[in-house]
Amino acid sequence: MRYEKIQAPKGVSEYVPPISSAFEWVRDQLISQAKNAGYQLMELPVFEDTALFSRGVGESTDVVSKEMYTFEDRGGRSITLRPEGTAGVMRAVIEHGLDRGQLPVKVWYSGAFFRAERPQAGRYRQFYQVGVEAIGVNDPALDAEIISLADAGFKKVGLKNYRLDITSLGDAQSRAAHKVDLVAFIDKLELDDATKARAAINPLRLFDDKRDEIKSAMADAPLLKDYLSEQSTKDFSAVLQYLDQLNVAYVVNPRMVRGLDYYTGTTFEFVHEGLGAQSGIGGGGRYDGLMEVLGGQSLSGIGFGLGVDRVLLAAQSEGLLTQDQFSSDLFIIPLGEGAKSAALVLAADLRAAGIRTELAFGDRALKGAMKAADKSGSRYVIVLGESEISSSVVELKEMADGSTSSVKIEVLREVLLESLSR
Ligand code: HAM
Repeated sequence: MRYEKIQAPKGVSEYVPPISSAFEWVRDQLISQAKNAGYQLMELPVFEDTALFSRGVGESTDVVSKEMYTFEDRGGRSITLRPEGTAGVMRAVIEHGLDRGQLPVKVWYSGAFFRAERPQAGRYRQFYQVGVEAIGVNDPALDAEIISLADAGFKKVGLKNYRLDITSLGDAQSRAAHKVDLVAFIDKLELDDATKARAAINPLRLFDDKRDEIKSAMADAPLLKDYLSEQSTKDFSAVLQYLDQLNVAYVVNPRMVRGLDYYTGTTFEFVHEGLGAQSGIGGGGRYDGLMEVLGGQSLSGIGFGLGVDRVLLAAQSEGLLTQDQFSSDLFIIPLGEGAKSAALVLAADLRAAGIRTELAFGDRALKGAMKAADKSGSRYVIVLGESEISSSVVELKEMADGSTSSVKIEVLREVLLESLSR
């Protein structure tokens, strides 16, 4: 009997060799600067109580109203696969009382997120983010740190062709004043019931509507930037000044709307020009009411989430990744049974010194093993046979130009470390 093959569910992103090495590298670069800034790992469940997202992220968002993977578990509880990371971090901060300790609570996370979107290039139903959250201090310098850490992550990957859009959604007072005028403006528009319902929950959502008729109807709508309170104006200009000093370029975009409802104050998005429609490579902002809405005390917070899948695509579009950069340094070909244990021991020793070392396995003839060495992309190759073992000398071959040099096995580690550091 032949079984049918089973395929991955539609629209998930997955990474297998060789591209998985590039994915891993990009993910690690993106978060490396946040780690250097004292943000600590938070490892959280990928499923949570559905109420966490409906209350935390907001009922009017597409993410909650259309895109959640929600199901009943065996105990009849409503469970949702996490569509984003901030609500879960806040839940855990409250649950573990981290907000009673040193502030700000500074954490980072990395993992899979789930949104039932229509799949296309750069938009997946399971995708990967790295993110950070800093909770408990309201200071424009912290906003600037967070934004510059995201920017530094993109720079670590080597990205150049991206832009930072930034705006302020103001404090509660600014938003309340704006809301009065915005709701009055929207009331005069002819809208279908579904759109009216969305606007009733969060009128800002209409700025994000992709339909041409809504876009043109909203062209003259009042903008939040004209309603910012004195404090919000002062805070926002401080953030921009810090960014200037940090040499982080930005474009103030007062019509920017993020897809999640918890944002307040500084809000931002990074957009890459090589990605077509799915150009958002990361975004974030302040969320000063979130902790309270989730049953905690009233503390402010700010953070970002960066899309690892999209940053990988962006890096490829800028020609930044070469397979060589993920290949081994040395490939060892043992010849004959006696050489195998010597090769295993030598490889373990070299790896312990940080030299990426692979072995040929199986009893292949030298020609086949050389092909494997070539395919591995390793920078150097040695053959370890009886004569090499008895003389304690190997021929170190550089694969790029075929040049060889004789090296004593006892100094092979030093020779490789020296040449790899060049
Ligand atoms: P977000 O803008 O919804 O923010 O997502 C952050 C990033 O995740 C996006 O810029 C994009 O690169 C990536 N992303 C989102 N959806 C998909 C998808 N379907 N396929 C591939 N990549 C995707 C948040 O999630 C907030 N929690 C960020 C944050 C943290 N704000 C404050 N703290």
